[in-house]
Amino acid sequence: MSLSAVADLLTCPNCHRPLSIMDRTVRCPTGHSFDLARQGYVNLLTGRQPANADSPEMITARDRFLGADHYRALADAIADRAAAAVDGLPAEQGRPRLAETGAGTGYYLATVLDRITDATGIATDISVPACRRAARAHARIGAVVADTWAGLPIADGHIDLLMVIFAPRNPPEFARLLAPGGRLIVVTPGPDHLRQLREPLGLLGIEADKQDRLQATMSAHLEPVQRDRLRYRLRLADDELIALVTMGPNAHHTDERIAERVRALQPPVEVDVDVWISEFAQR
Ligand SMILES: C[S@@+](CC[C@H](N)C(=O)[O-])C[C@H]1O[C@@H](n2cnc3c(N)ncnc32)[C@H](O)[C@@H]1O
Repeated sequence: MSLSAVADLLTCPNCHRPLSIMDRTVRCPTGHSFDLARQGYVNLLTGRQPANADSPEMITARDRFLGADHYRALADAIADRAAAAVDGLPAEQGRPRLAETGAGTGYYLATVLDRITDATGIATDISVPACRRAARAHARIGAVVADTWAGLPIADGHIDLLMVIFAPRNPPEFARLLAPGGRLIVVTPGPDHLRQLREPLGLLGIEADKQDRLQATMSAHLEPVQRDRLRYRLRLADDELIALVTMGPNAHHTDERIAERVRALQPPVEVDVDVWISEFAQR
């Protein structure tokens, strides 16, 4: 946990003035204050946590699935891209400042921080259990409960590299956060992602025009730089399949008969990973 490593970039969600940490409290000059949780994260939500935030059970499932490194090839591809983006920054910019919104357990941000050893990273998520887990994912992560749609409690123009991986996107807000020359990496599912599971397990569909819409909405605020498709195949046992299904948005839509439906597939099952990794630059 290192909220102190990123605190100078945090702003008050009420008055947008800079925040600082004093003892176990995070406060702004106006007098708004927020408790620093024992687990090392700070909750900067102004309202209640919405019902669609990831639950403790979803975070446990995500931790189990990612901890088994089924998405390691994706994490490594993101880290390669992140390292190349940060290498291109002017040296006078100092220590690279990273952020991941909708960061979940902090798995990807931690992988990138292992690669970029002088960087610090802010992990934001609307889910308290996610931030509790992300706060201990890496010594250089500071975790903040915040809503990407409501606007992020982070100062304008200081983030060198922002990442959004299978999480909500707010293009004007991302453009506001990025430093001059800063980059945004967005990961979205491709058309064949988990295709073997979609129908039998009733998973949410992937819109055919998702990539085109992403490029169009992002391009209004940031410059498209590059995009790559990563595809590989996993072989998953029944407990891994259950973790995969229950760690994501499908958990809000699946019923209790999921274990039964998974067994009907007669695991192990071959499952395709198919994702787009898109990069955009600050204009
Ligand atoms: C599919 S998970 C992806 C988590 C992580 N990026 C990963 O790939 O492991 C989506 C994440 O977005 C978070 N989320 C959903 N709505 C959000 C919002 N409005 N603001 C911030 N985070 C949000 C969820 O709590 C969840 O952790």
